[in-house]
Amino acid sequence: MPLFSLQPKETTEELFGRDNEIEELIRLIRARRWVAVLGPRMVGKTSLVKAVNRVPESIGIKAI
Ligand SMILES: Nc1ncnc2c1ncn2[C@@H]1O[C@H](COP(=O)(O)OP(=O)(O)OP(=O)(O)O)[C@@H](O)[C@H]1O
Ligand SMILES: [Mg+2]
Repeated sequence: MPLFSLQPKETTEELFGRDNEIEELIRLIRARRWVAVLGPRMVGKTSLVKAVNRVPESIGIKAI
């Protein structure tokens, strides 16, 4: 069993050191901007998107 889960995180509480990215992504979504999250493999792109998608104030906007 791995020491850490290899699955993407699903909530902002689980994300370490991503406060600025979370805030910025919510800001852009609210502004109805199209956003691409780019970065190296395993840096946490999917986790960031999944977690922000769960923030109540950021929902109401259809997202994939
Ligand atoms: N901010 C974070 N704090 C703690 N763990 C994190 C964080 N972001 C990602 N992880 C962990 O790092 C690993 C990779 O995360 P994730 O799958 O979201 O990255 P990714 O950039 O989408 O990867 P890939 O390039 O393979 O699609 C997972 O184990 C995830 O739980
Ligand atoms: Mg990913």
